[in-house]
Amino acid sequence: MEWHLGPLFIILIMAAKCGSGNGMPQSQQHHESNSQLDPDPEFIGFINNVTYPAGREAVLACSVRNLGKNKVGWLRASDQTVLALQGRVVTHNARISVMHQDMHTWKLKISKLRESDRGCYMCQINTSPMKKQVGCIDVQVPPDIINEESSADLAVQEGEDATLTCKATGNPQPRVIWRREDGEMILIRKPGSRELMKVETYNGSSLRLLRLERRQMGAYLCIASNDVPPAVSKRVSLSVQFAPMVRAPSQLLGTPLGSDVQLECQVEASPSPVSYWLKGARTSNGFASVSTASLESGSPGPEMLLDGPKYGITEKRDGYRGVMLLVVRSFSASDVGTYHCVSTNSLGRAEGTLRLYEIKLHPGASSSNDEHLNYIGGLEEATRNLAASREATTWQLSLLLSMLLLLPLRLPPWDA
Ligand SMILES: *[C@@H]1O[C@H](CO)[C@@H](O)[C@H](O)[C@H]1NC(C)=O
Ligand SMILES: *[C@@H]1O[C@H](CO)[C@@H](O)[C@H](O)[C@H]1NC(C)=O
Repeated sequence: MEWHLGPLFIILIMAAKCGSGNGMPQSQQHHESNSQLDPDPEFIGFINNVTYPAGREAVLACSVRNLGKNKVGWLRASDQTVLALQGRVVTHNARISVMHQDMHTWKLKISKLRESDRGCYMCQINTSPMKKQVGCIDVQVPPDIINEESSADLAVQEGEDATLTCKATGNPQPRVIWRREDGEMILIRKPGSRELMKVETYNGSSLRLLRLERRQMGAYLCIASNDVPPAVSKRVSLSVQFAPMVRAPSQLLGTPLGSDVQLECQVEASPSPVSYWLKGARTSNGFASVSTASLESGSPGPEMLLDGPKYGITEKRDGYRGVMLLVVRSFSASDVGTYHCVSTNSLGRAEGTLRLYEIKLHPGASSSNDEHLNYIGGLEEATRNLAASREATTWQLSLLLSMLLLLPLRLPPWDA
């Protein structure tokens, strides 16, 4: 139960009645009746407004001189609830206490401050008319992020727009900035602009990303801070989705019999693709490409390659980028042919095509190369082997030439 204005009023009325009722205005009456022994009470200075963080103790001090028989009370200004009279707390709030200090000062203390304590408090003297002063308490609140009103992780197709939002509360109102979790710059496209602008941080609770590109994919952090520690942050992961893209840096690889050779495909895809290698079927007129036609026609279809003693299959991924590696061990004539790296995800499918051919060495020279792992980079390989074989030389020159001229390469019959 809280006492409201009632008690003070009663006190005020009683004080008024005590003065002799000779028809003079009450204030004058009061003044005159007490003037010799008891000068009018008055405030000394002002009540300082104070600011404290939530959880701490706030103190408002009200200083009065010449109080005499009058009383000092503390009220909450918003609803006029009486909190204390003289040295006595009259509200049932264990966090409120009063202290009478050095004769003149009445202190109102509110411990374990809450946001609801924010507001103004009135120090009243029950003179007639009553005298009052007001002091206000501001309660600082550290920032908080409202999850329900902030972005969750999101997936957006490339070319579409996305808005990352972070709603923060606190007092003072927190600042919100965005940065990328990986420390990279944030790329922002101004409306109507084609260029992406690089910024380390973005100020504002809403980060709008127009016509997303895949490099904008990543984890973003919104950080809310005000003068009250600690700052808080939220992580929003943005996935930019697109169909796989496959690129084979080297599409032609020559290698001597008996060696190991590595084929590489670079893949970009989001969401993460399922990737595998196929070896094209051999047909009478060369090498079949992977097509449903060849599968349906009953001709030998492409063979799915599995990791094992013959093939070493690995895949490395870093974000939306990946590398597919196929090592064909102990290269033999039957390994000559077309290989396909295939990558599929929910948005599409892509494949790269590579061709393996045999480099003929001088008789007897082939064994020395057994342990040699040929990396992709057919040109380098071809150049290095130029001297090795005269008959190979013409080959590789024509190969070099066709690669340089970007002409479609016609392969001669290998098995001749
Ligand atoms: C305290 O704040 C109140 C309300 O904002 C204002 O009216 C009053 O003048 C302030 N007091 C002082 C001493 O600044
Ligand atoms: C973002 O806010 C910080 C700190 O308030 C300020 O230093 C910076 O200049 C602001 N940047 C922009 C782009 O408004």
